[in-house]
Amino acid sequence: MYEAVGGQAVIDKLVDDFYFIMATDPLAADCLRTHEGKDLSESAHKLKFFLSGWLGGPQLYLENFGHPRLRMRHSPFPIGQTEAEQWLYCMKKALSQSSIAPDVEAQVFGAFVQVATMLIR
Ligand code: HEM
Repeated sequence: MYEAVGGQAVIDKLVDDFYFIMATDPLAADCLRTHEGKDLSESAHKLKFFLSGWLGGPQLYLENFGHPRLRMRHSPFPIGQTEAEQWLYCMKKALSQSSIAPDVEAQVFGAFVQVATMLIR
């Protein structure tokens, strides 16, 4: 998958676009609010590292921050259906601005839906 999406440069742009959308699109306000007090450039940095390994590339997150344990790491944040839907809305928009081929994009988005759904409490 890592190669299919176009490697780290494509992941980095995807994540920058994703956080820009979250920070500026009023339709993502609840999702943005869960990040209150966080430095979004730091959040972006972590997500870039995570997606690298998650898509089958270098395990940058694991090497730098340890096991992702996403459920545990998200437990301090209030994530309901609304926040998850807004997260996915931002990601879908960012994906549509990427160079990723439509069939690969659909596969990746399906995997994001699964993870986001798992994080709802
Ligand atoms: C369902 C909606 C989601 C919300 C509201 C949300 C919110 C957050 C927040 C507030 C942080 C902390 C940011 C920081 O420490 O700078 C975070 C971290 C992170 N999120 Fe999410 N997230 C969601 C879904 C996802 C999904 C689907 C993924 C992966 C596919 C993901 C991957 C990560 C990663 C890797 C981190 C960094 C963890 C760490 O090192 O502390 N998140 N998220």
